[in-house]
Amino acid sequence: MTEHILVTDEAAVRTVRLNRPEKKNALTLAMYQAMTEALRDADESDSVRCVVIAGAPGAFTAGNDIGDFAKAATGGIPWDGAAFSFLDVLVRCRKPIVAAVGGVAVGIGTTLLFHCDHVVIASDATLSTPFLKLALIPEAASTMLAPLRMGYARAFSLLAMGRPLPAAEAKDAGLVNAVVPAADVDAVAIGAAREIAALPPRALAVTRELMRGNIDEVAKRMGAEGSHFSELLQSEEARTAFAAFFARKK
Ligand code: COA
Repeated sequence: MTEHILVTDEAAVRTVRLNRPEKKNALTLAMYQAMTEALRDADESDSVRCVVIAGAPGAFTAGNDIGDFAKAATGGIPWDGAAFSFLDVLVRCRKPIVAAVGGVAVGIGTTLLFHCDHVVIASDATLSTPFLKLALIPEAASTMLAPLRMGYARAFSLLAMGRPLPAAEAKDAGLVNAVVPAADVDAVAIGAAREIAALPPRALAVTRELMRGNIDEVAKRMGAEGSHFSELLQSEEARTAFAAFFARKK
């Protein structure tokens, strides 16, 4: 249990809210575990028909907690793949998922969007995946899904070069459904989730399953990314990059 993830059910919509605003919702192991549990439970629940993943105003999430990366790199905490367990449950979740991106979405905050069914983003938000700047590689099967979804050129700029993708461009790239004022993100996302939750569940489940294609291929790519990621996490280059983040001048 962690107070950094809030799970609420209203009618058939479950909201999983990231609630660590003082750290821009950077994700800790405990947060991944709580999100994994909330999604797994939603998947098995008869009453939940749609899940909203939401953040805080100004920050959807700053991605993985870099302090946890640093500790994992030096053996301070086990790199037990909590993020990868979360991604596995996310990818296999049979309930539709709506993302409410109210602000900056970094790293996994961007790559998890490839697995959401509907994405609402604040007009001043940006997506970014600075994995290579940390001497790591992108995960969540984004190395496969981003080129398919956005085309190779845009995917390379985002994933490899780490160039931020502003909200409007993310919409042009087919990654988000709606760009709205920051204050409206949650309401618009919850409205979409209610609309989805009102669809006939069996027909929706079959449609979604057919549309999502071969999940085992996606999981296989995540496995390949995961083993490179775990190895690179231990590198000198990565450790130096983690230390540089905390030593940066603001
Ligand atoms: N891990 C750990 N702490 C983080 C964090 C992360 N991923 N992102 C932000 N924080 C912390 C900061 O260290 C700071 O803590 P402090 O107040 O104790 O110093 C606090 O959250 C606020 O962050 P700050 O950088 O001051 O906010 P900002 O609005 O200027 O910038 C970001 C926000 C997200 C652009 C910036 O924090 C950032 O680049 N974070 C790292 C993102 C990243 O590389 N994630 C990993 C992706 S693989």
